[in-house]
Amino acid sequence: MRVYLDHNATTPLREEVLEGMLPFLREHFGNPSSAHNFGKRVREAVEEARERVATAIGARPREIIFTSGGTEADNLALFGVTNSPLASKRRKVVTSAIEHPAVIESCKALKKRGFEVVFLPVTPEGVVDLGAAEEAIDENTLLVSLMLANNEIGTLQPVREVAEMAKAKGALVHTDAVQALGKVRVKVEELGVDLASFSSHKLYGPKGVGALYVRTGLRLDPLLHGGHQERRLRPGTENAPGIIGFGLAVELAQEDLDRGMDRRIEALRDRLQRLLLERIPHVVVNGGGPRVPNTLNISFAFVEGEALTLSLDAEGVAVSTGSACSSGSLEPSHVLLALGLPPEVAHGSLRFSLGKDTTQEEVDYAAEAVASVVERLRAFSPLYEDFLRSELDLEQYLLRRKEET
Ligand SMILES: Cc1ncc(COP(=O)(O)O)c(C=O)c1O
Repeated sequence: MRVYLDHNATTPLREEVLEGMLPFLREHFGNPSSAHNFGKRVREAVEEARERVATAIGARPREIIFTSGGTEADNLALFGVTNSPLASKRRKVVTSAIEHPAVIESCKALKKRGFEVVFLPVTPEGVVDLGAAEEAIDENTLLVSLMLANNEIGTLQPVREVAEMAKAKGALVHTDAVQALGKVRVKVEELGVDLASFSSHKLYGPKGVGALYVRTGLRLDPLLHGGHQERRLRPGTENAPGIIGFGLAVELAQEDLDRGMDRRIEALRDRLQRLLLERIPHVVVNGGGPRVPNTLNISFAFVEGEALTLSLDAEGVAVSTGSACSSGSLEPSHVLLALGLPPEVAHGSLRFSLGKDTTQEEVDYAAEAVASVVERLRAFSPLYEDFLRSELDLEQYLLRRKEET
């Protein structure tokens, strides 16, 4: 059996989306900027996709700028604001410690350019600390960037509350909503944000396409310089098939949500969590705050996440240790460390992310596989043996080890 539980890394392309894209990879190849019929046919479809994305997030079509994905949308938001004349008076950017690298690394680059950057801490439940936000956001704050849903632990962040704080101080607000769109309702007006990033491949659309919502009236500087496409904010001939696929994927994801797909996935996710907790002792569920319905992050103390993923892969179960971008590095996840997890526990963490086609049979198979792999790996762990001999509970044992080292 092959079970894919890594939908936060990427999702398969939806059949209906592929069907919708194919004519634009075959016969409708025109450049949407061309004045002739070849171009006009594609322009119409691109604008229809823009409308679909705008409708899903409660925006106007003119407020949607298509990009090459979530990373570019995040970069366009952060550098678009900080490169603009708006940055002449205000020099502070406030973000959180658990953002995706697309935001964290951009913020580090801004720091090098002389901006003051504050990385807000999160609670042990994985939700940004509102008291720290209140303290950090001031009259010098140009931009606050807070993700809507975390990619590793799935926690939903209080974007609306933070946006209100930012507005009170005259700061702009960006949200990276890449992991939220398609999983929960996302309405930019309700969130009160000026900018929001989205990515197609997280919701059964094609890879290499995304969008930035830019509230009417906000003027950004482009990252790239060139033609007039995307209101000059993203010059270059549009990835028309990708954009068209993205539009369809967003619309279909919205219909799934309206039909209660999220509740079905949540029930399966909760089942997976229950089965794992029943079968495996000494585990920690990461992200106790409100979460997107498909994500579960668990630490299995005394085993290595990398060893777990490889062993599970051999059993046909695909999961990840955190964000796809950081797997391969031996550093524990910055998100889990921000929750206050000791590094040795953070090392043994897995992210399970379910999708619209995940079945109960798959969840049960995965739970069984995880239980037997954890048991096998722990049998080789001298530290686990030491822990069992100590007769302490996990927290006490870790505390003792911390004191000893
Ligand atoms: C929260 C978040 N932001 C941004 C991105 C980057 O999106 P893309 O892969 O489209 O560049 C991801 C993808 O992992 C993500 O999870």
